[in-house]
Amino acid sequence: MQGISDRVHLTYLIDRSTPSDDELHPGSDVVLGLSQTPKTLPPRYFYDDRGSQLFEQITELPEYYLTRTETAILKSCAPEIAQITGDCELIELGSGNSTKTRLLLDAYRSAGFPLVYCPIDISAGILESSAHSLLQDYPELEVYGLVGTYELALEKLPKTHLPSRMIGFIGSTLGNLNPEECDLFLDRITHALKSKEYFLLGIDLHKSTEQLEAAYNDRQGITAEFNLNMLRHLNQRFQGDFDLTQFQHIAIYNETNRQIEMHLRSLRSQIIHLQALNLTVEFAQGETILSEISRKFDLDQMKKLLTEKQLPCIQVWTDSSAAFAVLLCQRA
Ligand code: TRP
Repeated sequence: MQGISDRVHLTYLIDRSTPSDDELHPGSDVVLGLSQTPKTLPPRYFYDDRGSQLFEQITELPEYYLTRTETAILKSCAPEIAQITGDCELIELGSGNSTKTRLLLDAYRSAGFPLVYCPIDISAGILESSAHSLLQDYPELEVYGLVGTYELALEKLPKTHLPSRMIGFIGSTLGNLNPEECDLFLDRITHALKSKEYFLLGIDLHKSTEQLEAAYNDRQGITAEFNLNMLRHLNQRFQGDFDLTQFQHIAIYNETNRQIEMHLRSLRSQIIHLQALNLTVEFAQGETILSEISRKFDLDQMKKLLTEKQLPCIQVWTDSSAAFAVLLCQRA
């Protein structure tokens, strides 16, 4: 058996000698978002260390059925997925979800298939630590990780080692993209795959407003803390003076657009500063900042969209109350 370090191959797609736009103009997306009407903030600022911890806690909340339901579905359908795809590399967009990844790896292992895993993550640290723990538990596993944005990585997937490949995009992360972004994203998947290769997609489905709003307004207030943490993160990063007690978390289901909309609502009229960005922002009482959307899909519409994108769905699994769906698609 080879050592762990011999089985992990990381490629840095981000050219570390040329600073990115974000490094050259840190916070330009914050300035842009807060200067718009209505105000918005980019969801990526959720995730500092505290934010990542809070997100972990969200996935375990009683009201937040998504993670639990998707995990249960994957647990039961993973052996079927392995049977359908045969020898297949697993490419995963985002490498944080080790529990769900393991369910798939277990199924391929039980079927006697070789294990090749290609996680893609913008954070080298997260990618390395998740690869390390998988390599420890799967002595036959080879990891080919890509450090970079999904966009870049999908254009530069590593050369194939097995007869087929499957790109996994789970956790209903597709729902955090607006329709235009979703469209573009699926085009990139189509472009990245060869004919007959696979795309595994986990999506949350449309359901009652009551159940949806409860999932994003938990009784313990963890989701509220997660949302407000973004302001704390901005304070820290850009020398800001957001007073967290003067903003309130709200999550409402927009039934027309079928999306949860998470906002931070200003409890009074106030002025805040982000010194490092040389930015002053005025808030009216009740004014909100949109921090995230989470779209809820109709299964038939999604299948239709996937077919249009040359990614027809060949198998769907849902839970008994059809809250969540896992779709296996095959590139035409
Ligand atoms: N994609 C999941 C969802 O929409 C997880 C998620 C992303 C999330 N951003 C979030 C959950 C913000 C709560 C709040 O539910």
